[in-house]
Amino acid sequence: MATVEGRPESSARINPKRRVLTGMRTTGELHLGHYVGALKEWERIQDEGNFECYFLLADVQALTTHAENPSLLTKLVREVVLDWLSVGLDPDLSNVNFVLQSQVPERYELSQSFLMIAKYGEVMRNPTLKEELERQPNATMGFMTYPVDQAADVYMISPTPPIDGDELLVPVGEDQVPHLEFARVLARRFNKKYGPVFVECSALVGEIGRLVGTDGKAKMSKSIGNAISLSDSEEVVNKKVKGMFTDPNHVSPTTPGDTENNPVFIYLRAFDQDTQEVADLTERYNTGAGLGDVAVKTVLAKRLNEFLDPIRQRRVRYERANIRDILVAGTERARESAIPVVQAVREKMHTVYPA
Ligand code: TRP
Repeated sequence: MATVEGRPESSARINPKRRVLTGMRTTGELHLGHYVGALKEWERIQDEGNFECYFLLADVQALTTHAENPSLLTKLVREVVLDWLSVGLDPDLSNVNFVLQSQVPERYELSQSFLMIAKYGEVMRNPTLKEELERQPNATMGFMTYPVDQAADVYMISPTPPIDGDELLVPVGEDQVPHLEFARVLARRFNKKYGPVFVECSALVGEIGRLVGTDGKAKMSKSIGNAISLSDSEEVVNKKVKGMFTDPNHVSPTTPGDTENNPVFIYLRAFDQDTQEVADLTERYNTGAGLGDVAVKTVLAKRLNEFLDPIRQRRVRYERANIRDILVAGTERARESAIPVVQAVREKMHTVYPA
């Protein structure tokens, strides 16, 4: 049997592995949309403890659009780690790793290998890419290949060689689903052409998935200015809630109003634990039973602050934590998983020293 650095080519694996990899670009502080669309789900998976979790700080992917001012990135990596810690992601748990994307050399190599089997046409058909290209026609090559590069993020921690019962789950917002469909195609193609190396990943889209902004128009986003950040103070939250868009036809407390598409109610449904309270407010608003926008916003601001308080407290505690050590440890674990994957790919693609 061929050996690489003295190891058998495919040491028999007996125990299936269940792994989760997901990530965020480190482009800014996180907000409530990140929480309902991603972090809430990540935390649930972490706490259930059935999966080895790799949470990726995608600083390389951040450069696909933020290469102009890279010195900002160091600060942003730290901010995102603090946001993660504040919501309760916990790298002290034995199943949880925070991984800094740029510090995994094996990942770049895997990305390059995937570029060789990804077809230009299929990348160009990617709907998210197309949409973003319209917004920024001067996209870099790094940007154009990011769906391929993202497949390398996912598969660098693939159990290998795959055996029955292995799982590779990727919890993401729905905007990421086309990328993961493509990542599945790439793994299937590679395995078929060269022999089994990768476990095909599966996307896992959370219950809510997406949160409208305070303006009610678009997805919550810091750059649009319609976001409530996880690190916002009570005063800032109160002010932002006061300015929220509601139902424009609800001109007085006695006019029946819409709650379905009304961002104030969308947030109440997402963050108010007291379902009876939400039901009562909804009923009164729908029927024009005297519930004004100011009153319902006061309730929402209170509930949001109750939700954010423990997050704020944890943030204060973690300000003193050694972020670097957390990242070094998690990144090391990711590399331990990535090394056998890259070795297998080299063997299959014959990028090895000739005998
Ligand atoms: N593209 C994702 C985002 O915009 C971040 C990301 C990078 C990611 N690598 C990943 C998500 C791998 C899931 C799996 O937020």
